[in-house]
Parts: sequence; structure tokens; C-alpha cells
Amino acid sequence: MRIPYSSRSDKTILVCYNENMKTILTGIRANSILTLGNYLGALLPMVRLANEHSKDYHINIFVPDLHSIISDVDGDLQKNIIRGLKYYLAAGLEINENVHIYRQSHVPAHSELCWILDCVATMGETSRMIQYKEKSNGQESCNVGIFNYPILMAADILLYSAEYVPIGEDQFQHIELTRNLAMRVNHKYGEIFTVPVATAEQVKFMEVDNGLRIRDLLNPEKKMSKSTKAENSKIMLDDAPEVAAKKIMSATTDSFGKVKYDMWSQPGISNLLQIEALINDVPLQDVISTWAGETRYGDLKKKVAESVSTMLSTFQAKMAEISDEQISKLLEEGEEYANNVANVKLLEVQKAFGLR
Ligand code: TYM
Repeated sequence: MRIPYSSRSDKTILVCYNENMKTILTGIRANSILTLGNYLGALLPMVRLANEHSKDYHINIFVPDLHSIISDVDGDLQKNIIRGLKYYLAAGLEINENVHIYRQSHVPAHSELCWILDCVATMGETSRMIQYKEKSNGQESCNVGIFNYPILMAADILLYSAEYVPIGEDQFQHIELTRNLAMRVNHKYGEIFTVPVATAEQVKFMEVDNGLRIRDLLNPEKKMSKSTKAENSKIMLDDAPEVAAKKIMSATTDSFGKVKYDMWSQPGISNLLQIEALINDVPLQDVISTWAGETRYGDLKKKVAESVSTMLSTFQAKMAEISDEQISKLLEEGEEYANNVANVKLLEVQKAFGLR
């Protein structure tokens, strides 16, 4: 039975929450169809980690829908959310009682803790966030949500005492901010928050030595992003496999004429090597050794195009098998769990700040 939000208290915690078990938590916004960058940089590592650890960790996978509305949403947000969750299952996520799936806006404690943390964070540290600088583009007309976004992210993490937060490189600064806010609160009020581990440790835990930043195919100095306009710069997870293959074939490389893994001087080629390693789940070093010194870039492109199109065909077939009802059921259970866990932490914080 669902417990009404207003009557929840620290006594309502569900039996399936084991306080001694650590939490791994992550989220991907549901603004549009995801790119291959999100898939390889965030979704796949998360799914592998979850499957490996879901016997001994709580695995929280949520849709940061409140984060979605800081910018334009392509299409219908509700549909995007359901599709976003299907992605995890299609990528192989195995569900058991420790895997919790929920929507941020369905757990009001996120917004409440965000406000409290707003009163802890400084303008200075928040203004230094690179994502804020990039997304606001120096415009005063940018919405306040863009500025506040890393603090809401800190609330997302701290409510569940998550130690591990698998994310891509562009989010590392937000984890460091989360750590600073948690330590500041703990210093003043006692050990309230679990401080997530530092990003260097996160990377070790995820066992990813590569792939944290898949590059734009046309402009490989930049990360592959949903918001880039040029269609050939990004591979979307719903691209027809043959269209994706063509995009790989037209990827920007360089004029050195020899394959070498070097993100500085040969980012386009290095990006292709990374994609090849991640899709086939083989060590990057093995892929580098296979291709090092190759002078025909076309051969490498053909191989990567084949890997990408095979991966997309399999992924898209799995997506078609997952029903909306399956996702609704997971959300119902996950949101009951999330509200219970989050409200216990929120109450602890509210008491510390004198609000209760
Ligand atoms: P979002 O939705 O922008 O991106 C989701 C995840 O995808 C990663 N990513 C990439 N990784 C590699 N190469 C790329 N080209 C690439 N593009 C995106 C991102 O690093 C991210 O891990 N604020 C977050 C969502 C969020 C969250 C959280 C995540 C809200 N609260 C709490 C973890 C924990 C965001 O906007 O991600």
C-alpha cells in the first residue's frame, strides 16, 4: 500500500531498505532521445555496475524530470520518461528487490532538500560550475533552474546516502560540489550526510578507463550532445542502423594518416577507437594495439560503423519488447521506496536546521 506523503515519518521505512547496504545512484534527463554518448558514457556502465552489485548494494536509478525542464523538452516529457526507463532494461538491467526506479518529481523531498542546500551553497561556488557557464552562455536571461541545477543534483544524491554516482566527466564538478555541501553540513550539524566518494574513486569503482566523454563526430573537440543541431555530429539511439553507419563513415578525422590514440592531436580517430572498445566491451588498449599504425582510416571507420549498427539493431529490438505497463509497475514500487528513504533523511535535516 502507498503511504500518503503527509503521514510519512521516520517510522514508515520499508523493510526492504537495509541501512547497512551502500547505495549506487544515477540519473539521466529525459529531454529527448539519448545519444550514443549517453549510452556508452552513462547508461551501459551503470547497467553493468548495477548487475554486478545489486546483491550487495541498493541501486537507485531515477529520471531527473525536474532537471529536464531547465531546458526545452523535445516532444512529450511523459513519453520521454517512460522511454528513458525502457533504455535501462533494453541495455540489460536486471531487476531484483534492491533495484529501485523512480521519478524525481514524484519524490517531493528532492525539491525540499534542494531549498535547504540552497541556503548552504554559496553564489561563488555555484557560479563556477562549468555546466552553468556553458548552459547559460553568459546570458542574464537564463533561467534560475540552470544555476540551481547542481544543488538539486546534490539533493538527489544526499537524500539516499549514495556513495557511488556513476556519471560522465561533464558531471564530475557537481559531485565535488555535492561532497563540499555534505561536508559543510556535517561540520556544522554532525554526521547527517554520507559524503559520496571523490570522482577519482568513482571512476575506479566503475572500472571505466575510457568512454567517459564520447565526442561529437564532426567536431571531436566537443562532447557528443543531444542539443547539437547538426544531425551527423551525433548518433541517436533511435537512428536506423544504416543511418548511424553512414554518420560514422563521415566522421571527422585528421590529416596525420596514421591511427594513434591521442585525444589531443587525433581526437576523431581516438573517439572511434573508444566507441569500438566500449560497444564490444573489450579493453581500449586491445583496440588501440589492433589498429595502431593503420594508414587506411576507412577500414577503421567501416569496422566501427558495423559495431554501431549491430548494437543499435539489437538494442532497438529489445526496446520494442518492453511494455509501458512493465515500467509503470516498477515506478510504483520504486517511488514508494524512494519516498520512504528520502523522507527519513529529509526529516533528519529539517530537525538539524530547526525546521522541525
Ligand atoms: P544528463 O542527462 O545531461 O546526462 C546523463 C549522463 O550522460 C553522461 N553523458 C555523457 N557521457 C559520455 N559522453 C558523452 N558525450 C555524454 N553526454 C552525456 C553525463 O555525464 C551523465 O552522466 N545532472 C545530470 C542528471 C542528474 C544526475 C543526478 C546524475 C540529475 N541528478 C544525480 C547523477 C546523480 C544531467 O544533466 O545528466
